[in-house]
Amino acid sequence: MKVIKQARDMSLTAQALRRQGKTIGFVPTMGALHDGHLSLIRAAAKDTKVAVASIFVNPLQFGPQEDVERYPRDLKRDLNLAKAAGCDLVFAPDVSQMYPPGFSTSVDVGALGERLEGASRPGHFRGVATVVTRLLQLVQPAVAYVGQKDYQQAVIIERLIKDLAIPVSVRVMPTVREADGLAMSSRNGYLTPEERGQAPVIHEALQLAKTRIRDGERDPDRVLEAMRRRISEQPLARIDYLAVVHAKSFEPAERLVPARPDTRRAGGNRLALLAAVRFGPTRLIDNLLVDVA
Ligand code: PAJ
Repeated sequence: MKVIKQARDMSLTAQALRRQGKTIGFVPTMGALHDGHLSLIRAAAKDTKVAVASIFVNPLQFGPQEDVERYPRDLKRDLNLAKAAGCDLVFAPDVSQMYPPGFSTSVDVGALGERLEGASRPGHFRGVATVVTRLLQLVQPAVAYVGQKDYQQAVIIERLIKDLAIPVSVRVMPTVREADGLAMSSRNGYLTPEERGQAPVIHEALQLAKTRIRDGERDPDRVLEAMRRRISEQPLARIDYLAVVHAKSFEPAERLVPARPDTRRAGGNRLALLAAVRFGPTRLIDNLLVDVA
């Protein structure tokens, strides 16, 4: 497995691969790799000729209250895991390679980036959109792999690719979970044993909401109330937000009515149930999609 640290080297390598007709599958990450990340690398290795992962803790997407320095870093461990998952090339630039002196452009996805995660973390999605755009230009993939775990981020990446006419397709891969349902995240490692014991309540509440909707509940406020009650059974959990939104637009779902048959094909009846919950200083997010039939 090749490791590249210079942006110019990455760009020249990608151009050479493309000239040879080799399709590139790309998995952007911030390292601290776990099975969620590795599932994306495995998919890229399976689908495309050259699987490329990037490892870069992007300072632009951390808020002033969020400690970018504290984010777990262990490049040697990550390289071993990436290699074992079938990765062919890791791009691991430092900050000066990604944001050289004079760097000043940012990519702003507008209203989509200001709701939910964007409201709780101002500027976060501008940082994500900016780094992802620059990474896509350097790596030149045919396919980019992202996780449903960060659903709003996945929709934003799809949006910016469409809006900026970047020639790449996106595959959103299912959330990989621990045995007790907790979505895998590098932030799970920050939890105390007691918090870790209570954290599966996020997934449980999302599943409860999905069941209620499947069973015919059509009032989103009642769905949200059921989730709120379930989560507050765990004394260490503090809800940041719970939301039921239309999966593509992120507009709040006012009444969970099935879409008219003519809008169905556009995913008009798909809802996203989203949760952000704090345990002490650690903030966890998760989501489920549900089709209102
Ligand atoms: P990071 O949190 O490292 O996640 C990298 C990719 O792995 C994202 O697409 C994320 O959705 C996916 N992922 C994380 N946990 C997952 C899980 N449990 N199951 C499936 N996929 C999972 O997301 C970022 O980094 C950054 O914002 C990035 C896109 C790299 C831009 O800096």
